[in-house]
Amino acid sequence: MARCFVTRRLPGPALDRLRAAHEVDVWPGELPPSRDELVDHARDAEGLLCLLTDTVDAGLIAACPRLRAISNYAVGSDNIDSEAAAARGIEVCVTPDVLTETTADLAFALMLAAARRLPEGERAVRAGEWRTWEPSGWLGQDVHGATLRIVGMGRIGSAVARRAEAFEMRVVGVGRGDSLVDALADADFVSIHCPLTEETRGLIGEAEFAAMKPTAVLVNTARGPIVQTEALRRALAGGSIGAAALDVTDPEPLPSDHPLLEAPNLLVVPHIGSATHRTRERMADLAVDNLIAALG
Ligand code: DGY
Repeated sequence: MARCFVTRRLPGPALDRLRAAHEVDVWPGELPPSRDELVDHARDAEGLLCLLTDTVDAGLIAACPRLRAISNYAVGSDNIDSEAAAARGIEVCVTPDVLTETTADLAFALMLAAARRLPEGERAVRAGEWRTWEPSGWLGQDVHGATLRIVGMGRIGSAVARRAEAFEMRVVGVGRGDSLVDALADADFVSIHCPLTEETRGLIGEAEFAAMKPTAVLVNTARGPIVQTEALRRALAGGSIGAAALDVTDPEPLPSDHPLLEAPNLLVVPHIGSATHRTRERMADLAVDNLIAALG
């Protein structure tokens, strides 16, 4: 039996299987453990099951001399210093595939909602500002027939592309070797699906927004720091793009008084790409399977 630290309660019965195989300490809080709490609980662990909100850097890895396996409850692993883990021979596992379609659903929902200004319309109805049906009221962008640029045509990007094809969109992937500025110029919609790495941090900034159509809609369900927040704020305020729909932000969470939130043409939701009952349970199953397999 190995000692395992799990940094949050997970939905579904998966943790019972982990408890049957190993000695398990589950962080009971609603919020992530602080750095000190994480070090304290992980110090003697051989297995760590962590979330994207836990920073597993070289310092933490060094503080956990017995650690053999890290299982991330996410497909992204940018919260983990994989090189430091590899240098110690620690296996790092993530949860691909099980969340692909669910995350693609949300990306498409965000695209539709931003294009058709659903948040603004809903706010207006609730505020009593909807006086009558208007020929020029609440006009948005057509999604069907529009051009969608997908930055990162991996599993989730390809799943978004499949949905877009059913809407008869022109779908074009933007890959590593492509000039982003040139690629974005013809896009009505841009959806980001690349991982956060040193190469993609700050990928979309002032030059990219300047190249986009003034009506373009940016959707980000990948990681917040891929988009430069201040450049996005300026692009929305100055009209160099039409709207943005974000599941992820930098910082995350976005404080309620953050200047980005002043843009009326911004739709933002709290990192819920994979947040369905079934998918979060499947992620828990896979994260537990990964940890059990890695501990051997
Ligand atoms: C991931 O898995 O990386 C998502 O951001 C959360 O499901």
